[in-house]
Amino acid sequence: MLARALIERKRDGGRITPAEWRTLMSQYATDEVPDYQMAALAMAIYFNGLDRDEIGALTDAMLHSGAMLDLDHLTMARVDKHSTGGVGDKVSLVLAPLVACLGVAVPMMSGRGLGHTGGTLDKLESIPGFRTDLSLARATEQLERIGCALIGQTREIAPADRRLYALRDATATVESIPLISASIMSKKLAEGLTGLVLDVKRGSGAFLPELDRGLALARTMIALGADHGCPVVALITAMDRPLGRACGNALEVEESIMALRGEGPPDLMKVTYALGAEMLVLAGVATDRDDALRRMEVAISSGRAAAKFQEIIAAQGGDPKVVDDPSILPQAAECELYLAPRDGVIAQVEPRAIGRGITELGGQRTKVEDGVDHSVGFVITARPGDIVRAGEPLATIFAKDRAGVDTGVAALRRSIIIGEEAEPPLPLISHRV
Ligand code: URA
Repeated sequence: MLARALIERKRDGGRITPAEWRTLMSQYATDEVPDYQMAALAMAIYFNGLDRDEIGALTDAMLHSGAMLDLDHLTMARVDKHSTGGVGDKVSLVLAPLVACLGVAVPMMSGRGLGHTGGTLDKLESIPGFRTDLSLARATEQLERIGCALIGQTREIAPADRRLYALRDATATVESIPLISASIMSKKLAEGLTGLVLDVKRGSGAFLPELDRGLALARTMIALGADHGCPVVALITAMDRPLGRACGNALEVEESIMALRGEGPPDLMKVTYALGAEMLVLAGVATDRDDALRRMEVAISSGRAAAKFQEIIAAQGGDPKVVDDPSILPQAAECELYLAPRDGVIAQVEPRAIGRGITELGGQRTKVEDGVDHSVGFVITARPGDIVRAGEPLATIFAKDRAGVDTGVAALRRSIIIGEEAEPPLPLISHRV
Protein backbone atom coordinates (compact mmCIF):
# COMPACT_ATOMS: atom_id res chain seq x y z
CA MET A 1 0.00 0.00 0.00
CA LEU A 2 2.86 2.37 0.90
CA ALA A 3 4.45 2.09 -2.56
CA ARG A 4 1.24 2.98 -4.37
CA ALA A 5 0.67 6.05 -2.20
CA LEU A 6 4.25 7.23 -2.73
CA ILE A 7 4.06 6.77 -6.50
CA GLU A 8 0.87 8.80 -6.55
CA ARG A 9 2.39 11.54 -4.40
CA LYS A 10 5.57 11.78 -6.49
CA ARG A 11 3.55 11.69 -9.72
CA ASP A 12 1.65 14.73 -8.45
CA GLY A 13 4.80 16.63 -7.44
CA GLY A 14 4.75 15.87 -3.69
CA ARG A 15 7.61 14.96 -1.32
CA ILE A 16 8.57 11.65 0.28
CA THR A 17 9.78 11.79 3.90
CA PRO A 18 13.04 10.17 5.14
CA ALA A 19 11.08 7.55 7.13
CA GLU A 20 9.07 6.66 4.03
CA TRP A 21 12.23 6.32 1.90
CA ARG A 22 13.75 4.02 4.54
CA THR A 23 10.70 1.77 4.70
CA LEU A 24 10.29 1.70 0.92
CA MET A 25 13.92 0.85 0.13
CA SER A 26 14.24 -1.78 2.84
CA GLN A 27 11.03 -3.40 1.54
CA TYR A 28 12.38 -3.20 -2.01
CA ALA A 29 15.66 -4.84 -0.98
CA THR A 30 13.72 -7.75 0.51
CA ASP A 31 11.34 -8.17 -2.47
CA GLU A 32 8.28 -6.84 -0.63
CA VAL A 33 7.89 -4.07 -3.22
CA PRO A 34 7.65 -5.38 -6.81
CA ASP A 35 9.72 -4.02 -9.68
CA TYR A 36 6.67 -2.66 -11.52
CA GLN A 37 5.91 -0.27 -8.65
CA MET A 38 9.54 0.80 -8.31
CA ALA A 39 9.69 1.36 -12.09
CA ALA A 40 6.67 3.66 -11.89
CA LEU A 41 8.27 5.57 -9.02
CA ALA A 42 11.58 5.88 -10.91
CA MET A 43 9.70 7.36 -13.88
CA ALA A 44 7.85 9.81 -11.62
CA ILE A 45 11.23 10.86 -10.16
CA TYR A 46 12.70 11.13 -13.66
CA PHE A 47 10.03 13.70 -14.57
CA ASN A 48 9.42 15.47 -11.24
CA GLY A 49 12.86 15.20 -9.61
CA LEU A 50 13.72 15.06 -5.91
CA ASP A 51 14.65 17.97 -3.71
CA ARG A 52 17.97 18.11 -1.92
CA ASP A 53 16.63 16.55 1.32
CA GLU A 54 14.91 13.73 -0.55
CA ILE A 55 18.12 12.90 -2.45
CA GLY A 56 19.91 12.68 0.91
CA ALA A 57 17.18 10.50 2.38
CA LEU A 58 17.13 8.16 -0.64
CA THR A 59 20.94 7.85 -0.49
CA ASP A 60 20.76 6.98 3.22
CA ALA A 61 17.96 4.51 2.65
CA MET A 62 19.92 2.67 -0.08
CA LEU A 63 23.16 2.81 1.92
CA HIS A 64 21.45 1.27 4.95
CA SER A 65 19.66 -1.40 2.90
CA GLY A 66 22.91 -3.41 3.17
CA ALA A 67 26.30 -3.71 4.87
CA MET A 68 29.22 -1.29 4.94
CA LEU A 69 32.96 -1.87 4.89
CA ASP A 70 34.11 -1.30 8.46
CA LEU A 71 37.55 0.24 8.08
CA ASP A 72 37.59 2.62 11.04
CA HIS A 73 40.41 0.62 12.63
CA LEU A 74 42.74 1.36 9.70
CA THR A 75 45.24 4.07 10.49
CA MET A 76 45.58 5.01 6.83
CA ALA A 77 43.21 7.41 5.05
CA ARG A 78 40.71 5.60 2.77
CA VAL A 79 40.14 7.32 -0.54
CA ASP A 80 38.49 6.12 -3.74
CA LYS A 81 37.88 7.56 -7.20
CA HIS A 82 34.69 7.20 -9.19
CA SER A 83 34.29 7.94 -12.88
CA THR A 84 30.98 8.46 -14.60
CA GLY A 85 32.44 6.30 -17.36
CA GLY A 86 33.61 6.52 -20.90
CA VAL A 87 35.50 4.84 -23.71
CA GLY A 88 39.15 3.96 -23.13
CA ASP A 89 38.81 5.14 -19.52
CA LYS A 90 41.30 2.86 -17.79
CA VAL A 91 42.33 5.43 -15.17
CA SER A 92 41.25 3.23 -12.23
CA LEU A 93 43.72 0.50 -13.21
CA VAL A 94 46.62 2.94 -13.03
CA LEU A 95 45.40 5.09 -10.18
CA ALA A 96 44.55 2.41 -7.60
CA PRO A 97 48.06 0.89 -7.36
CA LEU A 98 49.70 4.30 -7.80
CA VAL A 99 47.86 5.89 -4.88
CA ALA A 100 47.96 2.72 -2.74
CA CYS A 101 51.75 2.48 -3.03
CA LEU A 102 51.96 5.98 -1.54
CA GLY A 103 50.29 4.93 1.72
CA VAL A 104 46.58 5.50 1.06
CA ALA A 105 44.06 2.67 1.41
CA VAL A 106 42.04 2.38 -1.81
CA PRO A 107 38.86 0.30 -1.41
CA MET A 108 37.84 0.56 -5.06
CA MET A 109 34.43 -0.80 -5.94
CA SER A 110 33.79 -0.73 -9.68
CA GLY A 111 31.19 -1.80 -12.20
CA ARG A 112 30.89 -3.74 -15.44
CA GLY A 113 30.60 -2.21 -18.89
CA LEU A 114 27.07 -1.64 -20.10
CA GLY A 115 25.99 0.21 -23.23
CA HIS A 116 28.86 1.97 -24.98
CA THR A 117 31.09 2.42 -21.90
CA GLY A 118 33.62 -0.08 -20.61
CA GLY A 119 33.80 -1.35 -17.03
CA THR A 120 36.80 -1.76 -14.74
CA LEU A 121 35.72 -5.25 -13.62
CA ASP A 122 35.67 -6.55 -17.20
CA LYS A 123 39.10 -5.05 -17.82
CA LEU A 124 40.59 -6.61 -14.68
CA GLU A 125 39.07 -9.99 -15.48
CA SER A 126 41.09 -10.14 -18.69
CA ILE A 127 44.09 -10.82 -16.42
CA PRO A 128 44.30 -14.63 -16.20
CA GLY A 129 42.86 -15.81 -12.87
CA PHE A 130 41.91 -12.36 -11.53
CA ARG A 131 38.86 -12.47 -9.21
CA THR A 132 36.77 -9.38 -8.53
CA ASP A 133 34.03 -11.15 -6.51
CA LEU A 134 35.69 -10.85 -3.11
CA SER A 135 33.52 -10.99 0.00
CA LEU A 136 33.54 -7.91 2.22
CA ALA A 137 35.56 -9.83 4.83
CA ARG A 138 38.20 -10.78 2.28
CA ALA A 139 38.32 -7.25 0.81
CA THR A 140 38.79 -5.83 4.31
CA GLU A 141 41.62 -8.27 5.06
CA GLN A 142 43.31 -7.41 1.76
CA LEU A 143 43.00 -3.67 2.43
CA GLU A 144 44.64 -4.13 5.82
CA ARG A 145 47.44 -6.20 4.31
CA ILE A 146 48.28 -4.41 1.03
CA GLY A 147 46.22 -1.21 1.04
CA CYS A 148 44.03 -1.88 -1.99
CA ALA A 149 41.16 -4.10 -3.11
CA LEU A 150 39.56 -3.92 -6.57
CA ILE A 151 36.10 -5.38 -6.22
CA GLY A 152 32.58 -5.41 -7.63
CA GLN A 153 29.43 -4.36 -5.79
CA THR A 154 28.88 -7.41 -3.59
CA ARG A 155 25.38 -8.65 -2.75
CA GLU A 156 25.91 -7.19 0.73
CA ILE A 157 26.52 -3.59 -0.44
CA ALA A 158 23.50 -1.31 -1.11
CA PRO A 159 21.23 -4.15 -2.36
CA ALA A 160 18.36 -1.72 -2.95
CA ASP A 161 20.55 0.25 -5.36
CA ARG A 162 21.78 -2.91 -7.05
CA ARG A 163 18.22 -3.90 -7.87
CA LEU A 164 17.04 -0.39 -8.71
CA TYR A 165 19.98 0.33 -11.04
CA ALA A 166 19.24 -2.78 -13.13
CA LEU A 167 15.57 -1.78 -13.22
CA ARG A 168 16.39 1.79 -14.29
CA ASP A 169 18.59 0.45 -17.05
CA ALA A 170 15.62 -1.55 -18.37
CA THR A 171 13.10 1.29 -18.00
CA ALA A 172 15.02 4.27 -19.46
CA THR A 173 15.24 6.04 -16.11
CA VAL A 174 19.02 6.08 -15.64
CA GLU A 175 19.60 9.68 -16.78
CA SER A 176 18.16 11.40 -13.72
CA ILE A 177 20.60 13.46 -11.65
CA PRO A 178 18.88 12.69 -8.30
CA LEU A 179 18.81 8.95 -9.05
CA ILE A 180 22.39 8.81 -10.37
CA SER A 181 23.73 10.79 -7.39
CA ALA A 182 21.94 8.63 -4.82
CA SER A 183 22.97 5.44 -6.61
CA ILE A 184 26.67 6.28 -6.86
CA MET A 185 26.97 7.84 -3.40
CA SER A 186 25.12 5.03 -1.59
CA LYS A 187 27.80 2.61 -2.86
CA LYS A 188 30.73 4.92 -2.29
CA LEU A 189 29.65 5.79 1.25
CA ALA A 190 29.34 2.04 1.97
CA GLU A 191 33.11 1.78 1.37
CA GLY A 192 33.73 3.64 4.64
CA LEU A 193 35.80 6.33 2.91
CA THR A 194 37.57 9.33 4.38
CA GLY A 195 37.60 11.03 0.96
CA LEU A 196 36.32 10.59 -2.59
CA VAL A 197 37.40 12.01 -5.94
CA LEU A 198 34.93 12.11 -8.82
CA ASP A 199 35.81 12.12 -12.50
CA VAL A 200 32.71 13.52 -14.16
CA LYS A 201 32.94 13.13 -17.92
CA ARG A 202 31.48 15.58 -20.41
CA GLY A 203 31.18 15.41 -24.20
CA SER A 204 29.50 13.12 -26.72
CA GLY A 205 30.76 9.87 -25.15
CA ALA A 206 29.71 10.78 -21.61
CA PHE A 207 26.70 9.50 -19.83
CA LEU A 208 25.51 13.12 -19.34
CA PRO A 209 27.17 14.93 -22.28
CA GLU A 210 26.21 18.51 -21.30
CA LEU A 211 28.55 20.48 -19.04
CA ASP A 212 25.77 22.02 -16.93
CA ARG A 213 24.33 18.58 -16.11
CA GLY A 214 27.80 17.23 -15.28
CA LEU A 215 28.37 20.16 -12.92
CA ALA A 216 24.96 19.67 -11.31
CA LEU A 217 25.72 15.96 -10.79
CA ALA A 218 29.12 16.79 -9.27
CA ARG A 219 27.64 19.38 -6.89
CA THR A 220 24.88 17.04 -5.78
CA MET A 221 27.37 14.26 -4.98
CA ILE A 222 29.70 16.68 -3.18
CA ALA A 223 26.78 17.76 -0.96
CA LEU A 224 25.86 14.12 -0.24
CA GLY A 225 29.45 13.41 0.76
CA ALA A 226 29.43 16.45 3.07
CA ASP A 227 26.26 15.13 4.78
CA HIS A 228 28.26 12.02 5.73
CA GLY A 229 31.50 13.77 6.68
CA CYS A 230 33.21 12.49 3.53
CA PRO A 231 34.99 15.27 1.61
CA VAL A 232 34.46 14.95 -2.15
CA VAL A 233 36.32 16.74 -4.95
CA ALA A 234 35.20 16.51 -8.59
CA LEU A 235 37.06 17.13 -11.83
CA ILE A 236 35.19 17.56 -15.09
CA THR A 237 37.15 15.81 -17.86
CA ALA A 238 36.70 15.36 -21.60
CA MET A 239 34.94 12.38 -23.17
CA ASP A 240 34.48 13.78 -26.70
CA ARG A 241 37.25 11.37 -27.77
CA PRO A 242 38.57 8.16 -26.15
CA LEU A 243 41.09 8.48 -23.31
CA GLY A 244 44.47 7.07 -24.31
CA ARG A 245 44.77 4.86 -27.37
CA ALA A 246 43.57 1.40 -26.28
CA CYS A 247 39.82 0.68 -26.27
CA GLY A 248 38.85 -2.86 -25.25
CA ASN A 249 39.46 -4.89 -22.10
CA ALA A 250 42.83 -6.64 -22.44
CA LEU A 251 44.18 -3.86 -24.66
CA GLU A 252 43.38 -1.35 -21.91
CA VAL A 253 45.06 -3.49 -19.26
CA GLU A 254 48.18 -3.54 -21.42
CA GLU A 255 48.08 0.26 -21.82
CA SER A 256 47.61 0.64 -18.04
CA ILE A 257 50.65 -1.55 -17.40
CA MET A 258 52.64 0.62 -19.81
CA ALA A 259 51.40 3.69 -17.89
CA LEU A 260 52.55 2.17 -14.58
CA ARG A 261 55.93 1.56 -16.20
CA GLY A 262 56.18 5.23 -17.23
CA GLU A 263 55.15 4.78 -20.87
CA GLY A 264 51.50 5.85 -20.77
CA PRO A 265 49.95 8.15 -23.38
CA PRO A 266 50.03 11.84 -22.31
CA ASP A 267 46.25 12.34 -21.99
CA LEU A 268 45.83 9.25 -19.81
CA MET A 269 48.74 10.35 -17.59
CA LYS A 270 47.41 13.89 -17.27
CA VAL A 271 43.97 12.75 -16.08
CA THR A 272 45.47 10.05 -13.82
CA TYR A 273 47.88 12.50 -12.18
CA ALA A 274 45.19 15.16 -11.73
CA LEU A 275 42.82 12.72 -10.00
CA GLY A 276 45.66 11.10 -8.04
CA ALA A 277 46.83 14.50 -6.79
CA GLU A 278 43.35 15.19 -5.42
CA MET A 279 43.30 11.78 -3.72
CA LEU A 280 46.72 12.25 -2.10
CA VAL A 281 45.85 15.74 -0.84
CA LEU A 282 42.48 14.54 0.53
CA ALA A 283 44.32 11.70 2.27
CA GLY A 284 46.78 14.14 3.84
CA VAL A 285 49.71 12.26 2.30
CA ALA A 286 50.77 15.21 0.12
CA THR A 287 50.88 18.84 1.19
CA ASP A 288 49.53 20.13 -2.12
CA ARG A 289 48.96 19.02 -5.69
CA ASP A 290 52.52 19.77 -6.80
CA ASP A 291 53.91 17.68 -3.96
CA ALA A 292 51.46 14.91 -4.91
CA LEU A 293 52.56 15.01 -8.55
CA ARG A 294 56.22 14.64 -7.57
CA ARG A 295 55.41 11.66 -5.36
CA MET A 296 53.44 9.96 -8.13
CA GLU A 297 56.19 10.50 -10.69
CA VAL A 298 58.74 8.93 -8.35
CA ALA A 299 56.38 6.02 -7.59
CA ILE A 300 56.19 5.29 -11.29
CA SER A 301 59.84 5.85 -12.20
CA SER A 302 61.05 3.73 -9.25
CA GLY A 303 58.77 0.79 -10.21
CA ARG A 304 56.84 0.95 -6.90
CA ALA A 305 53.49 1.57 -8.57
CA ALA A 306 53.94 -1.35 -10.99
CA ALA A 307 55.06 -3.57 -8.09
CA LYS A 308 51.91 -2.64 -6.15
CA PHE A 309 49.80 -3.65 -9.14
CA GLN A 310 51.58 -7.03 -9.13
CA GLU A 311 50.82 -7.40 -5.43
CA ILE A 312 47.12 -6.63 -5.97
CA ILE A 313 46.89 -9.04 -8.91
CA ALA A 314 48.53 -11.84 -6.89
CA ALA A 315 46.24 -11.17 -3.89
CA GLN A 316 43.17 -11.48 -6.12
CA GLY A 317 44.22 -14.76 -7.76
CA GLY A 318 45.62 -13.27 -10.96
CA ASP A 319 48.93 -13.97 -12.63
CA PRO A 320 51.27 -11.14 -11.54
CA LYS A 321 53.70 -11.96 -14.37
CA VAL A 322 51.35 -9.97 -16.62
CA VAL A 323 53.02 -6.76 -15.43
CA ASP A 324 56.36 -7.88 -16.87
CA ASP A 325 54.87 -9.73 -19.81
CA PRO A 326 51.51 -8.34 -21.04
CA SER A 327 51.57 -10.92 -23.87
CA ILE A 328 49.98 -13.39 -21.43
CA LEU A 329 46.76 -11.38 -21.71
CA PRO A 330 44.13 -12.84 -24.07
CA GLN A 331 45.24 -12.18 -27.65
CA ALA A 332 42.87 -11.64 -30.58
CA ALA A 333 43.25 -14.08 -33.48
CA GLU A 334 43.09 -11.28 -36.04
CA CYS A 335 44.88 -7.97 -35.91
CA GLU A 336 44.68 -5.52 -38.80
CA LEU A 337 45.61 -1.91 -39.47
CA TYR A 338 42.83 0.53 -40.33
CA LEU A 339 44.01 2.99 -42.97
CA ALA A 340 42.78 6.51 -43.72
CA PRO A 341 40.28 6.24 -46.59
CA ARG A 342 41.22 9.73 -47.84
CA ASP A 343 43.34 12.83 -47.26
CA GLY A 344 42.09 15.39 -44.74
CA VAL A 345 41.96 16.36 -41.09
CA ILE A 346 40.69 14.08 -38.31
CA ALA A 347 37.51 15.97 -37.42
CA GLN A 348 36.27 13.53 -34.79
CA VAL A 349 37.11 10.29 -33.02
CA GLU A 350 33.62 9.64 -31.73
CA PRO A 351 33.67 7.63 -28.48
CA ARG A 352 30.08 6.35 -28.55
CA ALA A 353 30.57 4.83 -32.03
CA ILE A 354 33.83 3.24 -30.86
CA GLY A 355 32.14 1.83 -27.76
CA ARG A 356 29.37 0.37 -29.92
CA GLY A 357 32.04 -1.07 -32.22
CA ILE A 358 33.66 -2.88 -29.27
CA THR A 359 30.24 -4.29 -28.37
CA GLU A 360 29.77 -5.50 -31.97
CA LEU A 361 33.17 -7.22 -31.77
CA GLY A 362 31.94 -9.04 -28.61
CA GLY A 363 34.06 -7.02 -26.17
CA GLN A 364 31.15 -5.47 -24.24
CA ARG A 365 27.69 -6.60 -23.22
CA THR A 366 24.27 -5.58 -24.43
CA LYS A 367 22.64 -7.53 -21.56
CA VAL A 368 23.95 -8.03 -18.02
CA GLU A 369 24.10 -11.82 -18.52
CA ASP A 370 26.18 -11.65 -21.76
CA GLY A 371 29.76 -12.95 -21.81
CA VAL A 372 32.68 -10.80 -22.93
CA ASP A 373 35.56 -11.47 -25.32
CA HIS A 374 38.40 -9.74 -23.48
CA SER A 375 40.82 -9.82 -26.42
CA VAL A 376 38.99 -7.62 -28.93
CA GLY A 377 38.92 -3.86 -29.48
CA PHE A 378 40.86 -1.05 -31.10
CA VAL A 379 44.09 0.82 -30.60
CA ILE A 380 43.47 4.26 -32.07
CA THR A 381 46.47 6.43 -32.79
CA ALA A 382 44.61 9.13 -34.76
CA ARG A 383 43.68 12.19 -32.68
CA PRO A 384 41.28 15.00 -33.56
CA GLY A 385 43.16 17.71 -35.47
CA ASP A 386 45.75 15.36 -37.04
CA ILE A 387 46.38 15.96 -40.75
CA VAL A 388 46.34 12.59 -42.54
CA ARG A 389 46.98 11.20 -46.00
CA ALA A 390 44.99 8.40 -47.65
CA GLY A 391 46.49 5.01 -46.74
CA GLU A 392 48.09 6.21 -43.49
CA PRO A 393 47.38 3.95 -40.45
CA LEU A 394 44.86 5.47 -38.04
CA ALA A 395 44.13 2.49 -35.80
CA THR A 396 44.54 -1.26 -35.30
CA ILE A 397 41.57 -3.60 -35.13
CA PHE A 398 41.72 -6.66 -32.84
CA ALA A 399 39.01 -9.23 -33.68
CA LYS A 400 38.28 -12.91 -33.19
CA ASP A 401 37.93 -13.66 -36.94
CA ARG A 402 37.83 -12.09 -40.42
CA ALA A 403 34.15 -11.18 -40.09
CA GLY A 404 35.10 -9.32 -36.91
CA VAL A 405 37.74 -7.35 -38.81
CA ASP A 406 35.05 -6.27 -41.31
CA THR A 407 32.81 -5.26 -38.40
CA GLY A 408 35.71 -3.30 -36.92
CA VAL A 409 36.39 -1.51 -40.21
CA ALA A 410 32.73 -0.47 -40.47
CA ALA A 411 32.77 0.76 -36.85
CA LEU A 412 35.93 2.81 -37.39
CA ARG A 413 34.49 4.35 -40.58
CA ARG A 414 31.59 5.61 -38.45
CA SER A 415 33.86 6.73 -35.59
CA ILE A 416 36.91 8.35 -37.17
CA ILE A 417 35.57 11.20 -39.24
CA ILE A 418 37.91 12.84 -41.74
CA GLY A 419 36.92 16.30 -42.91
CA GLU A 420 38.44 19.56 -44.07
CA GLU A 421 38.85 20.98 -40.55
CA ALA A 422 38.45 19.91 -36.92
CA GLU A 423 36.44 21.57 -34.16
CA PRO A 424 38.77 22.25 -31.22
CA PRO A 425 38.50 19.31 -28.77
CA LEU A 426 37.15 19.93 -25.26
CA PRO A 427 39.82 20.79 -22.67
CA LEU A 428 41.00 17.52 -21.14
CA ILE A 429 40.34 18.83 -17.62
CA SER A 430 38.01 21.82 -17.60
CA HIS A 431 36.67 22.30 -14.05
CA ARG A 432 37.50 21.47 -10.46
CA VAL A 433 34.47 21.49 -8.17
N1 URA B 1 26.49 4.42 -12.04
C1 URA B 1 25.80 4.03 -10.95
O1 URA B 1 26.34 3.33 -10.12
N2 URA B 1 24.54 4.45 -10.81
C2 URA B 1 23.92 5.23 -11.71
O2 URA B 1 22.77 5.58 -11.53
C3 URA B 1 24.64 5.62 -12.85
C4 URA B 1 25.94 5.21 -12.99
